[in-house]
Parts: sequence; structure tokens; C-alpha cells
Amino acid sequence: MARVNENFLKLPGSYLFSTVGKKVREYQEANPDKKVIRLGIGDVTLPLPPAVISALHTATDEMAAKESFRGYAPDLGYEFLRSAIVENDFRCRGVDISIDEVFISDGAKSDSANIQEIFAENSKIAVCDPVYPVYVDSNVMAGRTGTYHAESGRWSNVIYMPCTDENDFVPGFPEQVPDIIYLCFPNNPTGAALTKDQLQKWVDYANQKNAVIIFDAAYEAYISQEDVPHSIYECDGAKTCAIELRSFSKNAGFTGTRLAYTVIPKELVLDGISLNGLWIRRHGTKFNGAPYIIQRAGEAVYSEEGKKQILEMVGYYRKNAKVIYEGLKAAGYTISGGVNSPYIWLKTPGGMGSWEFFDYLLERANVVGTPGAGFGPSGEGYFRLTAFGSYENTVEAIERIRRMGN
Ligand code: MLT
Repeated sequence: MARVNENFLKLPGSYLFSTVGKKVREYQEANPDKKVIRLGIGDVTLPLPPAVISALHTATDEMAAKESFRGYAPDLGYEFLRSAIVENDFRCRGVDISIDEVFISDGAKSDSANIQEIFAENSKIAVCDPVYPVYVDSNVMAGRTGTYHAESGRWSNVIYMPCTDENDFVPGFPEQVPDIIYLCFPNNPTGAALTKDQLQKWVDYANQKNAVIIFDAAYEAYISQEDVPHSIYECDGAKTCAIELRSFSKNAGFTGTRLAYTVIPKELVLDGISLNGLWIRRHGTKFNGAPYIIQRAGEAVYSEEGKKQILEMVGYYRKNAKVIYEGLKAAGYTISGGVNSPYIWLKTPGGMGSWEFFDYLLERANVVGTPGAGFGPSGEGYFRLTAFGSYENTVEAIERIRRMGN
């Protein structure tokens, strides 16, 4: 008799952004005359940069001709993209990563969910709290997290590293020793960043404990402060303990086009087994490569015009982040994030619960954000706004929130 994977049944509720989307749809259906401004999910709103569009057109034309048509892409990615990545994201920062340590994929969300497959079933994971829900949910599905306690909002077999205003949203080393440590910096959802010294301490800790850090650097394009590293490999010793995830979504607008990559250094070896080798095996079996036209679009991100255009794009969202940060601060909110990140993290006013504030904001200001509690128990009492809306909507949303008072 066929049986379901019962680990799925342990997952409480639906995926955070599906819940938020459903609530907003219901509100909009009941109030069709209201102009709802969505600053909830971190989805971009600007069109793809011209250099990317032009590369997409050229690659599409190539697919239309017999001589230049391409079938399956190499499962680890085309060399033209992998070498552009190595040159522009690493070597120009003084980091030596080689092409065969870079794996092209269809998104950092899938990479961050799939990477756990190459670790032992009984590995103990540590996550920041609050955290991007995919890291935990994917480990729940794999049966690694124990049982869920609804009251505390915690899994029995997960190590939580609270990140609150008490520690400036920077996790401290946990009491229990983890096997796998998920770190996302600049952070989703808090918008906090780690300095190079702070990240170096995590690298040293992981090497000392024989743990592996899964470093999600999807938001590195938003780093504005000098002492914040763009890659974990800027830290000494990171190649023996860290996997890095990167995305084309937030820097170049690929949320709907899907492209990302993962770096697994060849020096990363557990029990004499290369994780790079395991990921090659996993990719070969489960993935047939990101589409040729999308990889050409990704290559265009690193062209001279592409680089200028994505800087402008990131600058546009940064300006939104400033509007949110300064506007809410002036309105008396307690704010963090937004400086090295497109996410602004605020304390809910008057001790309101974060889902309560979600409803309040939706009803009173018709603005959608993301409740901090959706990212983990330490997110309760906080709320996330994203800078990825249009400038006009962002200005209007903040004006509405200010008028609403707190
Ligand atoms: C978010 O809103 O947290 C992001 O959209 C997450 C993602 O990129 O999947």
C-alpha cells in the first residue's frame, strides 16, 4: 500500500507567503474599491534591465535556428556563465573560486531547500530565529526536525539562535553544537548584516566544530557598508566549512526568470567525502540545467552595460528602503535593517502581535507587509516591509502608515 511522507503532515499551516497572499486576496475581494499596496513578499517590480532583455532576444533567436539551437544545458551550467561569475563575483574581490566550484541552478529558493539532501539524516541544524522559512520546512520534509510544539513555535530537534534587538539581530553561538548552520546575511527578514569580523568568528567556529555553514548571500547587492563582506569566502578558512548560495533575483530582477548558483569549494570535505562531488551527483540525477536563454541573460548581468543597469536598479530599491526607514522613524516606529538590505524590520506598535498588526495595517492603511512571527517565534512583535515596490507606491504606503498613527 502506498503511504504518504508523513513528515509533510507535521508542517503547521501553509507556506508563509501563501498564507499572506490568501489573506490579501480575501481582503481585496471583500473590498474591491481599495487600492492595496503590497510590500509583503520580496518580489521585484522593475522590468529586467535592457542588457538582459537584449541577451534574451539574441538567445531566443539562436534557439530558432538549426545551427545554433541548444537542447539540454550542461547540468552544472554553461561555462560562459560560470566563468563570468567567478571573475565578477569572486576574483575581483580577491576571492579565488574556480569554475568547477560553481553550480548554476533555477533559483536560490530551490538550492536552499535542496542542499540538505547531501547531509546525514540525523544532522542537527541551527537556524537564526526569525528565519527564511524554507530552511526549516525543507528539513521538516526530510524528517530531520523532530516534533513541533505549537505553543513555542519550535521544533524539538532544531537549534534556534534568537536574533532580536537585544543582540542587534546578530546570532550568538548556540549552547548545543550544530552540524549544519544556516546563515543568511544580509538577513532575510531582519535586514541585519554581519561585519567581516563577525562572520570570521562564525567561520572559525564552524571549522572548530566540524560544522558546515550554508551561507545565503541572496541580498549581497544591497550591501552599502565597507566592512560587510559580500561573500563568506572573504573570510579565512571558509572554503573548508561553507557553501554559499547566490541569486539573480534581487540584484537583477530574475524572480520570474529564475537563475541562481551555489558555490561548493573542493576543499569542503566531510569524512573524506567531497561535498562538491556529492552535489555534482545530485545535480546530474535531479536537474537538467537552467535554460540556455536564461543563462545568456545571466551572463549579460556581468557585461559593462549590465553592471551599470543593475546598479541603477538596486539604487532604485535602496531609495525605497530609505523612504520606508526614514518615514517610519519620523512617525515614531522602532526600525532596523534597510541599510545593507531591501528589508526593513520594525517593532509593532503598542506591543501588538505581528499577525494582529498585519490585519490592522491591511484594514487601516491597505498596506501589506509580512508578520515577523511567520519567520519564527522570535519574530513575534516585529513586522517586515520590503523595498521592492514601486517608488510611488512606497511613498504612498508610508504616507498612509504615518496618517494612521501608531
Ligand atoms: C521573501 O519575501 O522572503 C522572499 O521573496 C523570499 C524568496 O526569495 O523566496
